[in-house]
Amino acid sequence: MASILEVVALFVVMFLRKESVAQNFSTSECGNSKGCLFQPNNCIPFQTCAYAMSYSATNSGDVIFEILGQVTAPYNTYVALGFNNAAQMDGATVTACASYNGSPFLGRLTYNPATYNLNVPIDQNTQSNILQTIYSGVVNNTLYCKVTQTISPPSNIPSNFVAPLNQTFYILMVSGPTQTGNNPALLKHSTHYISPQMVNLL
Ligand SMILES: *[C@@H]1O[C@H](CO)[C@@H](O)[C@H](O)[C@H]1NC(C)=O
Ligand SMILES: *[C@@H]1O[C@H](CO)[C@@H](O)[C@H](O)[C@H]1NC(C)=O
Ligand SMILES: *[C@@H]1O[C@H](CO)[C@@H](O)[C@H](O)[C@H]1NC(C)=O
Repeated sequence: MASILEVVALFVVMFLRKESVAQNFSTSECGNSKGCLFQPNNCIPFQTCAYAMSYSATNSGDVIFEILGQVTAPYNTYVALGFNNAAQMDGATVTACASYNGSPFLGRLTYNPATYNLNVPIDQNTQSNILQTIYSGVVNNTLYCKVTQTISPPSNIPSNFVAPLNQTFYILMVSGPTQTGNNPALLKHSTHYISPQMVNLL
């Protein structure tokens, strides 16, 4: 008979295996447990989507975002969501999933003070309290990230850096390369998507 230790070990192995399997963007939940946007309309994630995203608010005060977009390389690239009250890049707060200097893809808070992008100037701890990365991976030149972001950031963080999510926004989606070196950052995107209507994320 298998000892308890063997059974535990088996569960650990099964769990680790499950974690390492690429996750997918489930389109069947769109309109039910989550809201979704696609570019082009009705595209198939990992096959025909330039971009796709989903949002679902939790009752613990977060929004879970899935962000999917085509990237030109499996590192030093990004996909990002912009939130804006105008249908433009300028003035958006941006939740990116980016690989900086060859590192794994992680959620990063950035913003567009004008027609350029900067990292939000907060320390890593504060950032991790606002934005957590649940999963990231590249399959078929497509980056897929799942992150969770707090609806109400700490009150000392200006809303032009990190907008509270309890409002309607135009949703922007972009992807592109990252700048390597001592000041890693998102470089200008090649294509972009802007939602046709404002979206209520909650
Ligand atoms: C994701 O799901 C779609 C549709 O269900 C499927 O065609 C595609 O192969 C899947 N991709 C991955 C990477 O699992
Ligand atoms: C990768 O993309 C090709 C072409 O669109 C598609 O046929 C294939 O199913 C995709 N693979 C996965 C794992 O989704
Ligand atoms: C969003 O929540 C904050 C509290 O965190 C509140 O002060 C603000 O009025 C809310 N905004 C909207 C549009 O509901």
